[in-house]
Amino acid sequence: MIQPGPAAILSGTVGQYRHAMVVKIDFKFVMMKRELIITQDGSHSIAIDQTNITYHSRYGAIRESTHIYIESGLKKLLHQKPCINIFEMGFGSGLNALLTLISTVEHNQEVYYETIDESYLENQFFEKLNYCRELKKPGLQSAFIQLHLCESEKEVAVNSFFRFKKSQGSFQHYIFNKSFDIIFYDAFAPAAQPELWTGYIFMKLFEALNAGGVLVTYCSKGCVQRAMKVAGFVVEKLPGPPHKREILRAIKV
Ligand SMILES: C[S@@+](CC[C@H](N)C(=O)[O-])C[C@H]1O[C@@H](n2cnc3c(N)ncnc32)[C@H](O)[C@@H]1O
Repeated sequence: MIQPGPAAILSGTVGQYRHAMVVKIDFKFVMMKRELIITQDGSHSIAIDQTNITYHSRYGAIRESTHIYIESGLKKLLHQKPCINIFEMGFGSGLNALLTLISTVEHNQEVYYETIDESYLENQFFEKLNYCRELKKPGLQSAFIQLHLCESEKEVAVNSFFRFKKSQGSFQHYIFNKSFDIIFYDAFAPAAQPELWTGYIFMKLFEALNAGGVLVTYCSKGCVQRAMKVAGFVVEKLPGPPHKREILRAIKV
């Protein structure tokens, strides 16, 4: 559920990893032009024109998302509950949702997946994303498109293992009405969106997690670790995907 509010104004320095060079910009994200790019593992990502901001690592979108969100997140809690509730901040390309959908079937694990994005991708992008082909799951293309086309705020049973609900709006105004076991935290980097990496934001996420729940994110900056600790998380540093030394897993003990 979203409380009304203005679209976020992003401002900041774009660092490395997801962003190849350093630029200082002020922009209204929802107005920016996007383009489809191919990352080094052959899978697509989205780049924001004139900024060097990308939705995934240029070293491999599928490789990065699998490593962080599936291997270091979902796999930690598999089979600990009949149904795992996952919240994703930043639905974007839908890659994390697709990888989760695949894992639920492979591991006979029921998942409820809730996600938010301020700015959904247009058809011209999500229809071209090559994830199902690259993952050798062409039969899932229609389910992938369904994730993008389904109505906001309506829960959809994509199959008997995977229920999905998305919302459009700003996370800062989001009101949780469920508790979660895993949070995939996939906002743009703190340099671009400092307002999404504060102690206050992590307190909100901490409150939304069940005891024993985990939050995983690609960002391992010291200021992010400190904000997580302020919120009450126990923070673990884990090895990152190629070209990224560390990622974070924050646990609500
Ligand atoms: C790094 S991209 C990741 C997208 C996605 N997880 C993926 O795999 O494609 C960040 C996403 O967060 C969304 N976003 C940025 N600011 C937001 C906000 N304040 N509230 C909700 N979504 C936001 C963007 O529109 C974008 O889709």
